[in-house]
Amino acid sequence: MREGTAPLIQRLDYQQPPFWIRKVDLSFDLDPAKTIVTSKMQVERNRAVPHGPLRLHGEELNLLRALINGAGVSFRQEGHELVIDNPPDDDFALEIRNTIAPEKNTALSGLYTSGGSFFTQCEAEGFRRITYFLDRPDVMAVYTVTLRADAAKYPVLLSNGNLTDSGTLENGRHFAVWHDPFPKPSYLFAVVAGDLVAREQRVRTRAGKDHLLQVFVRRGDLEKTEHAMNSLIASIVWDEARFGLPLDLERFMVVGVSDFNMGAMENKGLNIFNTAALLASPATATDADFARIESIVAHEYFHNWTGNRVTCRDWFQLSLKEGLTVFRDQEFSMDMAGSASARAVCRIQDVRQLRALQFPEDSGAMAHPVRPDSYSEINNFYTATVYEKGSEVVRMYQTLVGRKGFEAGMKLYFERHDGQAVTCDDFAQAIADANPGSALATRLDAFKRWYSQAGTPRVKAHGEHDAAARTYTLRLAQHTPATPGQPTKLPQVIPVVMGLLDRHGAALALNAAGDTETVLVLDQAEQTFVFENIDAEPVPSLLRGFSAPVVLDDGLSDAALLVLMRHDSDPFNRWEASQRLALNRILHALRAGQPLQLSPVFIDAMRGLLNHPELDAAFKELALTLPGEAYIAEQLDVVDPQAIHAAVMAAQQQLASALRDDWAATFETNQIAGGYTPDPVSSGKRALANLALSMLVLDAQATGDTVWPGKAYQRFKDASNMTDRLGALAALVNAGAELAQPALERFHALFKDDALVIDKWFALQARAPESEGRVFARAKALTKHADFTLKNPNRARSLLSSLCMFNPAAFHRADAGGYVFWAEQVLAVDAINPQLASRIARAMDRWSVLAEPYRSAAREAVARVAAKPDLSTDVREIVERALA
Ligand code: ARG
Ligand code: ZN
Repeated sequence: MREGTAPLIQRLDYQQPPFWIRKVDLSFDLDPAKTIVTSKMQVERNRAVPHGPLRLHGEELNLLRALINGAGVSFRQEGHELVIDNPPDDDFALEIRNTIAPEKNTALSGLYTSGGSFFTQCEAEGFRRITYFLDRPDVMAVYTVTLRADAAKYPVLLSNGNLTDSGTLENGRHFAVWHDPFPKPSYLFAVVAGDLVAREQRVRTRAGKDHLLQVFVRRGDLEKTEHAMNSLIASIVWDEARFGLPLDLERFMVVGVSDFNMGAMENKGLNIFNTAALLASPATATDADFARIESIVAHEYFHNWTGNRVTCRDWFQLSLKEGLTVFRDQEFSMDMAGSASARAVCRIQDVRQLRALQFPEDSGAMAHPVRPDSYSEINNFYTATVYEKGSEVVRMYQTLVGRKGFEAGMKLYFERHDGQAVTCDDFAQAIADANPGSALATRLDAFKRWYSQAGTPRVKAHGEHDAAARTYTLRLAQHTPATPGQPTKLPQVIPVVMGLLDRHGAALALNAAGDTETVLVLDQAEQTFVFENIDAEPVPSLLRGFSAPVVLDDGLSDAALLVLMRHDSDPFNRWEASQRLALNRILHALRAGQPLQLSPVFIDAMRGLLNHPELDAAFKELALTLPGEAYIAEQLDVVDPQAIHAAVMAAQQQLASALRDDWAATFETNQIAGGYTPDPVSSGKRALANLALSMLVLDAQATGDTVWPGKAYQRFKDASNMTDRLGALAALVNAGAELAQPALERFHALFKDDALVIDKWFALQARAPESEGRVFARAKALTKHADFTLKNPNRARSLLSSLCMFNPAAFHRADAGGYVFWAEQVLAVDAINPQLASRIARAMDRWSVLAEPYRSAAREAVARVAAKPDLSTDVREIVERALA
């Protein structure tokens, strides 16, 4: 949409549609320049709402004709709506014929071409870019789709549901007819046509039904689909075992496309994936890619129930499907990981992600509740808050009612709402009703504040031991900071999973029954909890497993943190203690304005972790990785990105040098013999070896030693998998080693024909630690590289998001060069792809907390973009919120 201003849509204005569309017969005469779409709809008046005209959504369409019951009808165009003022009172047949230009569709919403094939993306409001329709999720119809296209160029013709007919036509064309028996909203509609090949697998589910699974990709990519297929099969098995939810379709198809705005899309029976979220081979994908693909394949599959069978009434309810489905994919990944410690590693990674992306969002200009109250462009609300915080909200239900209770709640949810378009309230009610008398059911209204209040709650804990009474009193207080439009907040319901340790690290009994772990429910601004028979001052271990999305200030001393780091039974809190020790050092240096100096106690603690005989490599890697710069910034009222970067670099340098011998031993002992598998144990070893190598090369840079850079280069050359190869390359690039340049050139030459690997090449350079402006200069120069383009979202992000969103020290420059670059790129991308542009625009969300001179210069850049009259509504909403 390209308009000056867009209306603000309010959640409380929701009304049912005045008409229902029950059945649609769609046909496509596919042609890249001019595709003809014919839509025959069965329309019914909705008697529950007042009489009114029929208003159909449509954008970028060329209308050829509109018929009602076979006869021409008078209509008018009003903005992006086609208005029919006097439709019949009884049910009627509406026929629309229009044309579209898929090859001109660079926004990648609606029907578009990529690599010579056709693809669609209809969520959230892309269907209206295909034909006129009631393009809203509460209008659910049964679709029959006929595709006609050139048989040589487009041998594969796909849509939702089952193939019911196919054959040849005149002039070298052919056709296919697809029928989807499940009523669905238009955002789940999909079409694919092209020269694709498929990996196929037949599976039989518990009920004894046979299903055909297919993964469609371009001809050369078939070998890279094995992992996706395995992930799909594992997802099907898991959803039946854990939630009793079977596959309901005879055929389940997955398709990869290189030009895609997001990760993937759950179209009924025809999931469409960004190839970055689908294709993997040991030589071209890292362990992190393998894990991400597994979780995204699962995510889209799980949507079949949480999203498709039960969908959203309106887009304000987006987290109903996204928060719940992220929760389900996180649970799946943990179950797939297996051991308790591998599960903890998953959890730590998820929390790290939440803190790096969602916490900043929740304290910036775009802060919004999990269920937003207003938007002007819904695509701007596919956010970390709706997805990741939404998932944490679902996790809290499970913590409050227990795992069995949560499963019972899910069962009731589907019994009540299968086939419906519902709200977050309906979900909450089902979980509560299945668990009467539970800690959730007795506080449901207060719990639902998680949907309505933005901002990350702060929880302060203070414990007091009474030696005479042998009691320990824990006082918890909470406060949620103000966010745009929400100056004051009510207390949230916060489940605090906790235990107490004595000073030697032994778990203490919390009650007469001898439990060593319990859930405290904090639902007031301030509350106290008393534990009896506590002989000596204990160390509290609070918020185990990160039981709520809050910032905890427990005021623990370093000595107490060391007890937790060494002895807590909860691996998450052991990791958290290691991070807090590092964070305290960094924050202390920043607040005092002094150079950072790590203490011998801290170094010894880190050495103890690194050399621990029992801890997993994956856990060690997480514990020895310093907190990210974005998370550190979150702890400060005024953010100086350069100071933060300097402190982190100093800490890293000191950790590298103080533990030099330990890193070397770690590197040697974490080598893997034999072939590549992406399992948690091997990937943990590779991650730790890569961390050790980067520390060793960093230290060598400082001492002038050439042995480790040489070893890194050798490993880079000889590596048999992408994780090791990219790890060695990153060690050289991140340390600024001389061998980085020849390695980068060699890497490019090796992988020049593999777009997904070249994306890594761009991203690595744009994310490298800044040093004297060299990284910024290089990133800017890379925009002129022959392989760079703004048209492919993966490529654009690999350079622009990497620099502007994930490399604060390179981006925030005293000469404002980063901001000027940002403004230019946002405007350039906006002319091509507004959704992509508005993602990049969000790099400025938190300009107002920046220190000077960054703050004024950043504001000026945002204002300059906002002053452009022809911005998309996508970007306009982001920059206007930033300036508000
Ligand atoms: N529903 C998709 C998912 O699985 C995301 C698609 C969103 N696309 C968009 N253009 N907003 O999370
Ligand atoms: Zn999703």
